[in-house]
Parts: sequence; structure tokens; C-alpha cells
Amino acid sequence: MSSTELHETARAIVADHKGILAADESTGTMTKRLDSIGVESTPENRRAFRGLLFSAPGMEEYIGGVILYDETIRQSADDGTPFPELLAAKGVIPGIKVDTGAHDLAGFPGEKVTEGLDGLRGRLEEYRSLGARFAKWRAVITIGEGIPTSACIEANAHALARYAALCQEQGLVPIVEPEVLMDGDHTIDRCYEVTAQTLHAVYDQLFRFEVDLRGTLLKPNMVISGKGCPEHASAAEIAEKTIRCFLDHVPASVPGIVFLSGGQSELEATENLNAINRVGGPWTLSFSYGRALQASALASWGGDPSNAEAAQAAFVHRARMNSLAVAGQWSAELEQPVAA
Ligand code: 13P
Repeated sequence: MSSTELHETARAIVADHKGILAADESTGTMTKRLDSIGVESTPENRRAFRGLLFSAPGMEEYIGGVILYDETIRQSADDGTPFPELLAAKGVIPGIKVDTGAHDLAGFPGEKVTEGLDGLRGRLEEYRSLGARFAKWRAVITIGEGIPTSACIEANAHALARYAALCQEQGLVPIVEPEVLMDGDHTIDRCYEVTAQTLHAVYDQLFRFEVDLRGTLLKPNMVISGKGCPEHASAAEIAEKTIRCFLDHVPASVPGIVFLSGGQSELEATENLNAINRVGGPWTLSFSYGRALQASALASWGGDPSNAEAAQAAFVHRARMNSLAVAGQWSAELEQPVAA
């Protein structure tokens, strides 16, 4: 892929107020999700749920890309069409999670570094041949007593930059995901400070490794209070602080910022994205949600094939609400189901 193609792919994923469905939960995470609805986590049940999301009629109006997991990119729809092919036929760009998870950072209790660089070039080549056109790597930064350390931030930023350079070499758009976790009782201002430090380190490393920013997307956390913080910041405050932080630390040449939901409820994730777009910035500000696009659909499905249509409707509704939020045109009244 030429650099022009990388730029075009990055822009296409977030064109027309579309966003990304993150369906790349590792088997461990997917097992937790299925456990929560009392469904056994078998390859077939994971395939069935993801297949109903990908084949949901109309999802392609709001979803420009789907992030798959290694197991999922090799699975097929009920009619035998491989998932990457099914998505591409609908105009939805297939992507793939390529990191191998966050592991304890030696010598730094409570902190993690994401692994997966060894052998990555060969894996990217294979994923591209399976239909992937973009990739994702998630770094995790934890806020706590005396953490994050600069060692943790720098180790993760370095790995993200090496991953991004390898992706571009192999013709895949890298989604760069440095997630500052919502876990903890920290204030929104502490989240602001750590997000600023993290983004600064990430863009410093991307510059050093000569990554072409126009052929990347950023997948960050919003600047938001910790889950256990007694003061819950309003959507307006989240939006104002998120944009201020990003204006100072994310170059305008990055074509799109696709937020993760990170444990926000479906409604909060939509309301906050809408508020962020009401403030606006030089980048397209969209979504790459996992839980905030799937929670209602998963509950409606409950593992019963006869609920597939209801689950698809729940998923497409969330996708539409988030697409409206990208346009800054969402409002709470639109959440009321319209009587047939
Ligand atoms: P959430 O939106 O559930 O945080 O998932 C997005 C994701 O892909 C995290 O890596």
C-alpha cells in the first residue's frame, strides 16, 4: 500500500460520521462478557454473536471499520462467507488486534507493558492476506499512588511507535491506542495530567520512528474522572478538557481520533462524544467502542438464536446514536424507541 492509500484508508474508516466497532476482545475478555449473560464461551458462541453484529442490516451506514481478533478473522458467517469478506462486501473495512496483551512491567509493581513485537512483521503479512487493512495495539496506563511512572509511559510509547512503523511498512493503518484507565478514584484533572503526559510521549516516539501520522488513527480515553471519584464530571467539562488536552498534544495531521468507551455506560459514551463534537477540533472525532456498542445487543441476544434480530436492532440503534454524536446532533429524546 502506498502512503496515499494508507491516508485514504485512515480517512475512509471515519468518513461520513462513521466509527469503529471494536469486536477484538481476547478470548479471556469475551468469556467474561458471555459469562455475564450465562452463555458458555465456545468458539461457536463467540462466532454466533459476532456474526450477528457484522451481518446486522444497516450497520454499514454508521460503522466504517470493525476490529477483529485472531480467532474471529478466521471465522465465517452462517452461509460460510469469511467475516473479512462479509464486512468488505458491505463497505466496512476489516481490522485486526495485533498486540498480545498487557503484561506486568518488570520492576514496576502495578504497571503494565504491552507485548507482541516479536514476529509481528510476519503476522501483519498474514493478516493483510486475510483481508485486514488496519490494525490495533492497546497500551494500558494505570493511575494510582505514585503511578504511572515515566518508565511505564515511555516503554509503552516506544512499543506503540515500533508497532505503528511495522504496520505502515506492511500496508496496514495502525490504530495507536494509549488507554489511560478509568479505574481508580482519581479526579478528572489527574486524568488530564496523565493523558497529556502519555500523548506527549506517544507523539514524540511516533516522530522518532518516522511514522506517517496521516496514515494513522488515535484511539484514546476521554479526559474523564475515575470510576471511584466522588465528583463525576459533566459531559460539558469532559468535552472541554478532552479537547484542550488534545489540542496541546495531538498534531492536526492525525486524520481521526476514535475514542474508546473504557467502562462508560452506552448512554454516557454517546452523550460525551456528542459534547466533544459540539466543542470540536481539527480532527474527525469519532468512536471505536467495544462495550458501549455491544452491551444492549449482548443482553438482548442472551445466547438464543431467536433473539438475533432484536440484538441486531439494539446494536444498530447504538451505532446510529453514536454516528449522530459524531455530527454533534444527538439528543436524549432520540433514545426513545419509535413505535412501529
Ligand atoms: P471499550 O470501548 O469497551 O473500552 O473497548 C474498546 C477497545 O477496543 C479497548 O481496547
